[in-house]
Amino acid sequence: MISCHGLTYQQPPTIRMLKTTTAERPFAVQLFGAEPEIMAEAAAILNDYDLDIVDINMGCPVRKVIKKGAGAALMRNPKLAAEIIKQVVANSRRPVTVKFRSGWNHDEITAPEFARLAEASGASAVTVHARTWSDGFSGRADWRIIAMVAEAVNIPVIGNGDVKSSADVQAMLDETGCQAVMIGRAALGAPWVFQKDEFIPTLNSRRRALARHLELIALHLNPDQCLGRIKNHAGRYFKGQAGGSAIRQKIYACQTFNDLKALISS
Ligand SMILES: Cc1cc2nc3c(=O)[nH]c(=O)nc-3n(C[C@H](O)[C@H](O)[C@H](O)COP(=O)(O)O)c2cc1C
Repeated sequence: MISCHGLTYQQPPTIRMLKTTTAERPFAVQLFGAEPEIMAEAAAILNDYDLDIVDINMGCPVRKVIKKGAGAALMRNPKLAAEIIKQVVANSRRPVTVKFRSGWNHDEITAPEFARLAEASGASAVTVHARTWSDGFSGRADWRIIAMVAEAVNIPVIGNGDVKSSADVQAMLDETGCQAVMIGRAALGAPWVFQKDEFIPTLNSRRRALARHLELIALHLNPDQCLGRIKNHAGRYFKGQAGGSAIRQKIYACQTFNDLKALISS
């Protein structure tokens, strides 16, 4: 997710976020913002980068984003949302998709009509996180809303919310009629979640997966950036593992990236 302002001002931290590798395809960049003209300008800038999809964030619940009228706040301003989608579509050479929530709160479940609006404004697909803004990230995602959206539009629908395994993927596809599934939190510190066959990680396989993650991050970041960026993720690799909290403590105590590498390969 990148700010349309960061892109139009060519801020180095924003531009760095557009870096990718050939292994990471298809590559989608998600824009957030609330001004159609700036979003259009940002979309035009993205034409010069090697990416496959431009997504628009209309689901972020964070107050700082909402206060500016962006993210999930756009679900309460469909006219503006439509204008943003139209402008981004008109200025992008790539397919434009939109990600949003079930609605603002449980009295305002607007995802089906919002999806129709996105489709009519030129979106190539939509992703529905089946929680409302008021839910934040808590409570169970209500997959029935994804089914309602899949029923409402002809473009592909990507379902999202509480998918933690390939069995959940299949259940969501079957129960909702959506065409694809997006996994969020279950992928943090658990890249094996994307394997088709169920995989029960052992302590050793967790270490190996994290060691690979450390190798990869070192390829793409300066050594002094690596530790700060990876510590949180590193700890997550041992969530739910017997003895995991002792390892997490050791991870958080590491002073350098080399200390962390040594700890994980020990
Ligand atoms: C750490 C974190 C970062 C996220 N960043 C984004 C983001 O940049 N854009 C977005 O549309 N959703 C973002 N999300 C929301 C997820 O994409 C997803 O909609 C949400 O976590 C629900 O799916 P889940 O139940 O599988 O986690 C983020 C979630 C988490 C936990």
